[in-house]
Order: sequence, then structure tokens, then C-alpha cells
Amino acid sequence: MKKFTSVQDVPNLPQWLQEAKALKANPFAHKSLGENKVLGLVFFNPSLRTRMSMQRAAYNLGMQVMVLNVGQDSWQLEWEEGTVMNGTAQEHVKEAVPVMAQYCDIIGVRSFPGLKDREADYAEGVLNKFLQHSPVPIISLESATSHPLQGFADLLTIDENKQKAKPRVVLSWAPHPKALPQAVPNAFVEWMRAGEVDLVVTHPEGYELAPQIIGDTPVIYEQERAFEGADFIYAKNWSSYREYGKILSQSPDWTITEAKMALTNGARFMHCLPIRRNVIATDGVVDNSLVIPQAENRLWTAQLVLKKLLEETS
Ligand code: CP
Repeated sequence: MKKFTSVQDVPNLPQWLQEAKALKANPFAHKSLGENKVLGLVFFNPSLRTRMSMQRAAYNLGMQVMVLNVGQDSWQLEWEEGTVMNGTAQEHVKEAVPVMAQYCDIIGVRSFPGLKDREADYAEGVLNKFLQHSPVPIISLESATSHPLQGFADLLTIDENKQKAKPRVVLSWAPHPKALPQAVPNAFVEWMRAGEVDLVVTHPEGYELAPQIIGDTPVIYEQERAFEGADFIYAKNWSSYREYGKILSQSPDWTITEAKMALTNGARFMHCLPIRRNVIATDGVVDNSLVIPQAENRLWTAQLVLKKLLEETS
């Protein structure tokens, strides 16, 4: 394993879930594995959980961490080949990434989509440039179209809290005032499809996820019908894939309420955070949810990803 950018990079998912639980039970068991190793975290966009969980995971393994906020702490980067660089970008990615790799043994990168050009966003330009130009392993800290660290933590949280071998998991679109990426729902669908769950997706018409992501996952357009029998409700907003990047609805009819949760099989509520209370879900739903243990699991899953990469490179 030389990178972590998708569930496809995980050779044995059931084993990884068990190993993540083992790290959670014994966080410092491998504290010398990362000795004299440095993790670089490169952020083009804001973060709380990803930044702090990666840092803590690295410390638990004995690593040092450097964080770079591109555009604030460093030069603006140029991405195109053959550009006459007489504009705002001062440094080309062809130098920047190999230089970072001189200082870091593993590099994580977060870069959100522009939500203007679907083809460009789904081509994953930034992540692929890092993969192309880095001689050291790359971790996606959320790319234009996926958030694998979140998907892994979500699957671990469901695995820990399920009451039956194959729980019914419902991914529900919920309203939001801003146009958001499809990265989290894409990753959620991919990780659930790789795991042992009965997945259903519900959203208003026009919010269909990319065909290559959704595959044959059942989609139910009536939210309340989708909630029937659910063991987990995972709420997330995303902008339209079809009318790319557009907000087609802000209807509060899709907010997750206690009344809707009462239609389920005593489902646990999940969200990747940050969450807008009383927009995505009501206070009562959030206050009785798995969002805090779910965020905690970002740490243990990140630590396992780092451990695997360190074992591969040492
Ligand atoms: N869920 C998540 O990735 O949180 P941050 O954006 O705060 O890192």
C-alpha cells in the first residue's frame, strides 16, 4: 500500500476494522514505529477533525507533524503544464510537491472541488498532481470527489454500534444554505458498499449521485418511506451532480427531526460534522446521536492508515 485515496486501497476491509479497534484499545502500542518520521499535512481548505485527528494519530505513532495552509502560509501554486507564470501563482506544483517530499515521509492533502466544472473536479487534478510528483505516500484528507478517511471512520462507527450482522443504513440528503461537494456522500456510499450493510439512499429528485458511485444502490425519493426499518440514519447535504454544483432545494421538509427518527428501527443518527443544527437536523436529533464517537473514530482510522503506510515504507 503506497497511498490512501479510496476504499480500493484497502486490501482487507474486515481485517482493517479489527485492527482499528485494536489501536483504539491500545493507542501507544506502536509508538516507536514513526520515530524520526515526519507527516506533512497540506491544506487548501479549512478543517477541524481531519487536521487534529491526523496530528494526534501521528503523535500516537511517534511521528512529527508539519502543517501547511497553502495560499496563507506558502506560495500560490501553478498546476498547468507550460504556463507562462506571470500571474498570481509563484510556484509550480512540479517543484512544490517534490520539495515537500524532501522534508516529509508521508504527505496528506486536502483540496475541495470548484463545483463549476464537473469533468475537471471528477478528474481529481490536485490529488493526481500530488500522486504524480510525490515519491512518498499520499493520503487524501478529502479530495474533490471523495473523503476516504471519513468513510472509513463511518464504517467503523456502524460496525461498533450495530445490533445485527447486516444493519439497514440510510444516507439521507438534508438541506443546507451553501453548495457543498459530493465528496462525503460519495465516500460513504463507496465504504458502505464495501462493508456489510444494507444501504439505501434518499434525496430529492435532481440530487442523484454519480452513476459510477451509486451503482445499483437503491434510491428512494420519499424520505419518510426510506427511514422505515432503518438502523442508522446518515445525514449529509450535497449539491447536484446532474446540474453540477447547483442548489436545487433548500426545503426544510428534508431536515431530520425526532418525528422522522421515530419512523426508524430505533436508528442511531450520524453526521460527519461540522453540522448546521436545526437545518440538517434538529437539536434533539443531534444531541442523541453518534456524532462524537464518530468523530473520535477519525483518530483511530487515521492512525491505522498511517501505521500501514509506515510499515510499508520502513
Ligand atoms: N468531517 C471532517 O472532515 O471534518 P473537518 O472538515 O473539520 O476536517
